[in-house]
Amino acid sequence: MRVVATGGAGYIGRHTVLRLLRDGHDVLVIDDFSNASRDVIARLTEETGRRPQVLVADVRDVGACATAMARFRAESVIHFAGLKDVAASVQDPARYHAVNVGGVQGILDAMTRAGCETLVFSSSAAVYGAPQTLPIPEAHPLRPLSPYGETKRLAEQLVSGWARAAEGRRAVSLRYFNPAGAAPALIRPGDEAPGCDSLVARVSEVAAGLTAGIEIFGSDYDTPDGTGLRDFLHIDDLVAGHLAVLARIEGLAPGTALNLGSGGGATVLELLRCYERVSGCAVPHSLGARRAGDIPASWADTSAAQRLLGWRARHDLAEICASAWTAVTLAAPLQRSDRGMEYSNAIYAPSSSLPRSS
Ligand SMILES: NC(=O)c1ccc[n+]([C@@H]2O[C@H](COP(=O)([O-])OP(=O)(O)OC[C@H]3O[C@@H](n4cnc5c(N)ncnc54)[C@H](O)[C@@H]3O)[C@@H](O)[C@H]2O)c1
Repeated sequence: MRVVATGGAGYIGRHTVLRLLRDGHDVLVIDDFSNASRDVIARLTEETGRRPQVLVADVRDVGACATAMARFRAESVIHFAGLKDVAASVQDPARYHAVNVGGVQGILDAMTRAGCETLVFSSSAAVYGAPQTLPIPEAHPLRPLSPYGETKRLAEQLVSGWARAAEGRRAVSLRYFNPAGAAPALIRPGDEAPGCDSLVARVSEVAAGLTAGIEIFGSDYDTPDGTGLRDFLHIDDLVAGHLAVLARIEGLAPGTALNLGSGGGATVLELLRCYERVSGCAVPHSLGARRAGDIPASWADTSAAQRLLGWRARHDLAEICASAWTAVTLAAPLQRSDRGMEYSNAIYAPSSSLPRSS
C-alpha cells in the first residue's frame, strides 16, 4: 500500500512508519519537523533498509501536500501531525485551533485535490472530557475540558463530514488513550526520552536519574490508592491498531470513531511501582494537590475496536515500562551502580509538574 504519514517523524508517526516500511508498504512522510528531528528519517532507513519519501511542509500548505500526494499516488493518509500539549492549548487556544483544526482541513483539501479517498485521523480520549461512565464507550458525550480536546472534537467532525460527502471515501478517527513505551530500534545515545512529555517518559527520566523526582497531582481521588487512574497503551499496540484499521477500513462506516486503549487502567502510583520493579531503580515522588481540569479516572471501552478491527492490546503495563526503560537507557546509558532502590523512600521536593494525558 502507498501510505502518507503526516507527522510521520513524531513519536507515534515514526513508530507507525517503522512498521509500515518493515511490512513492505511505501511511505511518504509529510512533516515540518517542528517537533521532531530529521535524524528520524535516517534511522527509519537504517532499520528497514527502505527510505520513506519526505515532504518538509506544513500540513496547511494544501498545494505542496496535494502535489506530493498526487506524485506519490497516495492510497491512504494517516494524519498524525498536530499539537498535543493540553496545558499549552490552554495558554494559546488559537494556535491549537489553527494547527489542529486548520491542519485537518488542509489535509482533507489536499486529499480531495490528489484523489486520495482513505484517511485515518489521530484523535484523542480528550474529546470525552469528564467520564460519565467507565469504561468510556465511543457513544459517550463529547464534552472536552481543554482547547486541545475541543480541537480534536472539531477535527473529527470535519473528517466525518468529508467522508460522508462523496461516494467511495473512507475515514476513521482513532481516539488514543495514553500511548507509552518505545521501539529500541529508533533510539540513539543522546536522544530525549521518547514520548518526552508523557507520564511514562517522565517516570523513565526519574528512574534513570535524569530528573530528581516527580510530583503526583492528587492523592485523594476515588481510586484504589487515591491517585489518578489512566489507560496506558503500548506504542506497539497503538501501531497495530492503525494497521488493523487500514486493513479493515473498507468495511467501516465513513466517519467511524474508535477507541484505542488497553481497556484497563493503572493508577499513577501503580505505574511508579511497576516501573521500579521493572527497572530496579527507584522513582522518587511526592504527593501534591489535585490539578485543575484533571479527571480522577479514565479507561477505554475497546469492544468496538475488538469487534470491528479484530484488534486488542497485547502488552501489559510491565511491558510498557520495560520498553520505556530500554529506550531511556539506550538514550542515556546509565552507570547502573549509581542507581538503585536506595532512593525508594527519598522525599522529593517538587519543582516540576506532571503532564496531563492528551
Ligand atoms: N502522544 C499522545 O499521548 C497522544 C494522545 C492522544 C492523541 N495524540 C495525537 O496523536 C498525534 C501524534 O502525536 P505524537 O505524540 O506523535 O506527537 P509528536 O509531537 O511527537 O508528533 C507530531 C509530528 O507532527 C509534526 N507537526 C506538527 N505540526 C505540524 C504541521 N503544522 N505540519 C506538519 N507537521 C507538523 C511534528 O514535527 C511532529 O513530527 C497528534 O495529533 C496528537 O494530538 C497523541
